[in-house]
Amino acid sequence: MTTMTPETEPEFAWPRDRRITAPDLQAATDRGERWAMLTSYDALTAGIFERAGVRALLVGDTAAQVVYGHDTTLPVTMDQLVPLVQGVVRGTKVALIVADLPLGAYQATPEEGFRNAVRHLKEGGAQAVKLEGGQAVLGAVRLLVAAGIPVMGHLGLTPQSIHALGGTRRVQGRGSAGERLLEDAVALEEAGCFAVVLEAIPAELGTRVSERLKIPTVGIGAGAGCDAQIMVWQDLAGLTTGRLPRFVKRYADLDEALTRAVADYVNEVADGVYPAPEHSYA
Ligand code: KIV
Repeated sequence: MTTMTPETEPEFAWPRDRRITAPDLQAATDRGERWAMLTSYDALTAGIFERAGVRALLVGDTAAQVVYGHDTTLPVTMDQLVPLVQGVVRGTKVALIVADLPLGAYQATPEEGFRNAVRHLKEGGAQAVKLEGGQAVLGAVRLLVAAGIPVMGHLGLTPQSIHALGGTRRVQGRGSAGERLLEDAVALEEAGCFAVVLEAIPAELGTRVSERLKIPTVGIGAGAGCDAQIMVWQDLAGLTTGRLPRFVKRYADLDEALTRAVADYVNEVADGVYPAPEHSYA
């Protein structure tokens, strides 16, 4: 691992004394630098991710699963997401915080999307929002962008539509669907999105979209040709178990480490080993 110090930092350093912005991400992409995003749902881990060099954090609607214990992203509400956004914002100083608009927060009318995006910025303190879909959400994207709200798109496997797509294990954009996805990506860029997430699509399509768009593509199961990558942090850290998508790489086994630490604590309490004198007040 290369640790960036003032001496080794590249000529175009990322800001240290202010939040990263959408134009900073565009500039990094323009100079060919690949950058990492991660999901985040609380202050403590958000600070860790920022210190580790993650440039943008997404308070994703995956909170429905990894925070609130649901099977899908569908049940989470704005009222449940906004306090998580507040925590992530309070725990960070420089990372760009993107807040997800959950199912039902923007699909009915662009105006509803606008009201909910404003909640994420005003109440949550986020600097950008993300929404899923192509042609159907262009009205919402245009309205938000016109109001000065940076919008991240999301194409391919869009988990808010899993009942229509046939499940979360379906790779999208194969065959002629790839052309439609490319058209949607171009339309999102033209509508003003500052970046677009590409989820679970063939790597060759991820590369094609990335070459076609000027804005950064953020891949999750979209191959190495994307400008940036994103993962759900609990997947990266090995906290999620069972059958995981092919794109997940476990960089640690926190499930095992935490289980061992807590079991040690339980045993020490049972054996009277904890608390020891050094943990007790005179
Ligand atoms: O909600 C989320 O966490 C996401 C990422 C997986 C891209 O949309």
